Amino acid sequence: MNPQEVQHVQQSFAGIFARKADLAERFYVHLFTRLPEARGRFRGNFVKQKAMLTAMIAACVRNLDDPRTLEDLGGQLLQAHAHLQLGTQETEAAKRALIAALRDVLGPALDTETETAWASAISQVAGTMTRH
Ligand code: HEM
Repeated sequence: MNPQEVQHVQQSFAGIFARKADLAERFYVHLFTRLPEARGRFRGNFVKQKAMLTAMIAACVRNLDDPRTLEDLGGQLLQAHAHLQLGTQETEAAKRALIAALRDVLGPALDTETETAWASAISQVAGTMTRH
């Protein structure tokens, strides 16, 4: 990612930080629309799950310009999902769900440049979820 893309992602996320609970809510709506079978795999407290999702997104966004930390976060994601054996279909669904959730929350502020920057950030981090 180039510095301008990092800035697009960080600025847009700063603008919706107060609404991160909405982002998580929309993410799971879109994820379960694309992957209905995933719903039953969530066993814990869903309020806590949403908080963990947004904490992870926030940490990744904050460290987009720090490849070592980003790699560590990717490793944590890999570990958290290892037992689920996620493949490319699930990773693709997660990427699309997050973009769709951003669109719901950001509205027109998700312009083409910002969307491309997010897609690149998501690919960088989510790509590691399927690395076995
Ligand atoms: C943008 C992509 C994703 C992010 C950022 C993300 C983030 C997280 C985080 C932070 C956790 C909590 C880990 C912990 O307990 O410390 C988690 C757990 C989990 N994730 Fe994801 N996830 C993503 C995609 C997916 C996908 C595609 C699935 C599809 C099945 C999935 C299923 C789960 C399940 C089942 C758990 C464990 C919940 C439980 O034990 O009840 N995640 N995820």
